[in-house]
Amino acid sequence: MRRVVYKSVRAAGLTDAQIVDDIVLPTLRRNQENDITGCLWFGPDRFVQVLEGPDEAVDRTFASIRADVRHRDIQTLETGPLEAREHADFRMKLIRGDDTDGVAELLSRYPTMGASEHLHGLKGGGLIAGLRRIMRQMPASSL
Ligand SMILES: Cc1cc2nc3c(=O)[nH]c(=O)nc-3n(C[C@H](O)[C@H](O)[C@H](O)COP(=O)(O)O)c2cc1C
Repeated sequence: MRRVVYKSVRAAGLTDAQIVDDIVLPTLRRNQENDITGCLWFGPDRFVQVLEGPDEAVDRTFASIRADVRHRDIQTLETGPLEAREHADFRMKLIRGDDTDGVAELLSRYPTMGASEHLHGLKGGGLIAGLRRIMRQMPASSL
């Protein structure tokens, strides 16, 4: 089993409705077939996604995702072997940009995203703004 966490930049003009209808809904079926679970957070201009599942399926899916023109500047935040799934309940949980609980949970699960200590104590809009700031600043080399 393997996990990949990445962030990327939303393509200009890609609407929330397109993300739900054209990316997330087809993904649910494909991820089920490929035994992949995870979550996808989308903000106004960014994605953060966690993919977990069998090595070969995660590699193949991530290769497709990397080639997808609906986002760019894909940077891997975390990758490595996984003992047990962390998102076993979700074929692909969708976290909206303004869902502060969802973002806080995502960050607490992935401390190597480097964000949690800087965001400690922030809530609501401040938490979201802090996450966006950190995602913009985070250089690939620090990961
Ligand atoms: C932000 C984002 C997240 C995606 N997440 C998944 C995913 O979890 N699983 C998946 O099969 N495809 C996902 N896709 C779609 C893939 O990029 C690709 O369109 C799909 O896997 C079909 O690939 P293929 O054309 O190589 O067969 C995602 C695309 C984007 C832009």
